[in-house]
Amino acid sequence: MPFPLERPRRLRRTPALRRLVSETSLAPSDLILPLFVNESLPAPRPITSLPGHRHETVESACDVIESAVHAGCGAVLLFGLPAEKDAEGSGAWSDDGAVQQTLRAARARFGGSVVLIADCCLCEYTDHGHCGVLSDGAVDNDATLELYARTAVSQAAAGADVVAPSGMMDGQVGAIREALDAAGFDDVAILGYSAKFASVMYGPFREAAECAPQEGDRSAYQMDAANQREAVREALLDIQEGADMIMVKPALTYLDVVARVHDATDLPLAAYCVSGEYAMVRHAAAAGAFDECRAVLETLRGVRRAGADLVITYHALAAAGWLRSEGA
Ligand code: PBG
Ligand code: ZN
Repeated sequence: MPFPLERPRRLRRTPALRRLVSETSLAPSDLILPLFVNESLPAPRPITSLPGHRHETVESACDVIESAVHAGCGAVLLFGLPAEKDAEGSGAWSDDGAVQQTLRAARARFGGSVVLIADCCLCEYTDHGHCGVLSDGAVDNDATLELYARTAVSQAAAGADVVAPSGMMDGQVGAIREALDAAGFDDVAILGYSAKFASVMYGPFREAAECAPQEGDRSAYQMDAANQREAVREALLDIQEGADMIMVKPALTYLDVVARVHDATDLPLAAYCVSGEYAMVRHAAAAGAFDECRAVLETLRGVRRAGADLVITYHALAAAGWLRSEGA
């Protein structure tokens, strides 16, 4: 029944009509805020590569977490910077590491009213900057699994609701699940960074976390940008190993992957709008290319429309505020 009988514009006539037929929702509770906690700082310090973000102290991190709770954000994702790095990344499983301290302090202050996710990897803690331990210059997958397991258990003991292994080692979800269960943390969930691509878009994060590899890159463990089917395989493997949630990362250049993983699985699916994506939007907006608020909300709706239930974004706090005023 073509034009003139079919007129899709009828449903676009007013804001109220458009809202009525909107196919995709976007709420603050869909958004997860990443936070960097630095063990050795006396006071918070701005992160130049991520304008608007800071290296937090344990105390200031709790204040930001409070803002995130008040803004209605779904969760926070914690990254730690240790006072000292070593070859194994032993700071990752230190009971008084920055992440562990923040988990304890935030749990004491906010109880169950906040979802605390701990990133579980070694690259912020290793002096060589790789996500696992090296043997003969290459990352040793199976030796690394034990250290992820130790890290996850210490994060669970400190109060994490969710641990999120991001190192792309084979078997990481299974190794962590087994260790958590053996330590009595069978109710702590795992968010697998299932399909994490080797991406130039992690640049600002690596500056923020001081974790760029000293030699080589991460292409021997992170996924190749050319691959889509392999992402589904990675997601299904994580699910078999016991993941409770899965992730695709980065988001914007991988929306086809988000859509495909969404269709192939039925767990909650997160997409990570990474540091370089944040920087692109910030810098373009600052240069007058577009309005930042509208760019961010359109982007986040695109990620949700592709099939992500949750979006990890450095814009989480700002976007939560914009969504509130949009709804008002
Ligand atoms: C490290 C890790 C990275 C990010 C999250 N966890 C960087 C990397 O793999 O080099 C990237 C996040 C971002 O760019 O915002 N395992
Ligand atoms: Zn890592």
